[in-house]
Amino acid sequence: MEKRCLVSVANLPKEKILNLIRMGQEFEKRPNRKLLDGRIVATLFFEPSTRTRLSFETAANRLGAKVIGFTDPKVTSSTKGETLKDTIMMVSNYADVIVMRHYLEGAAKYASEVSPVPVVNAGDGANQHPSQTLLDLYSINKTQGKLDDLHILLVGDLKYGRTVHSLIMAMRHFNPTFHFIAPEELSMPEELKAYCREQGIKYEEQTDFNEEVIAKADIIYMTRVQRERFTDLMEYERVKDVYILRAAMLRNAKQNMKILHPLPRVNEIAYDVDDDPHAYYFEQARNGLYAREAIICDVLGLTLEDVKA
Ligand code: CP
Repeated sequence: MEKRCLVSVANLPKEKILNLIRMGQEFEKRPNRKLLDGRIVATLFFEPSTRTRLSFETAANRLGAKVIGFTDPKVTSSTKGETLKDTIMMVSNYADVIVMRHYLEGAAKYASEVSPVPVVNAGDGANQHPSQTLLDLYSINKTQGKLDDLHILLVGDLKYGRTVHSLIMAMRHFNPTFHFIAPEELSMPEELKAYCREQGIKYEEQTDFNEEVIAKADIIYMTRVQRERFTDLMEYERVKDVYILRAAMLRNAKQNMKILHPLPRVNEIAYDVDDDPHAYYFEQARNGLYAREAIICDVLGLTLEDVKA
């Protein structure tokens, strides 16, 4: 049987995305479904996480599976020199699916190639974060009632931000217009802009984050400037607070515009936004549970019909 992994959104067909959203909607209606009784989900986190790990583990528990894994590679035999390949081979002796976050771009793809069991990429360096993207699409669809023809502002760290890289690729099916808003040091990488041109994705770039561009948005996707990706901490200090979204900036926003953020936030969304009806980032994180229940089921070969049964 073909091994089903989720490593990247780059090759994810439109129908597959829509099907995962439909599965997620079923789980939102009823999160506790013992579809995976007797299965084991391994969560291997070589980088810190709150939402991704806990929502995957909650998803596994709500599906009736059991969870093994680690939250810190320092407590594993990788500190003794065990390779990623050997770690994956060992864990696949124990688990039916591996959810892995790793600091190296390409680590998830490599793991998926050597693993006998399905691998889900929970973030690989600055490359991809496909389960985040599925919950982002789920949240966009839920709040806008559609995925097509939306104006989406991507704000902040567009250079290292794997969530925005994945989101652009997944949105290629839905005719978006992106507004890339970043300081020059953190601008969208050329290969992503080339990807947009090849795919016919419309985009504009600017450094100003102001009420004029906010008024155009259906979705504002804020991102954190990620200290851990900088080799030059002086550069991080220069750009870390370059954009701070405040409630007063939302005066001319569309009524149904929603603010998303993969979280964690640092300073980029002021606390006075939290009570504004445009704020959606905490609900977005809750949607991660439903999206991740769908992902785990899908890689283990369960269909929408199995979920509905
Ligand atoms: N959005 C996200 O990946 O959050 P964590 O790093 O807390 O998992």
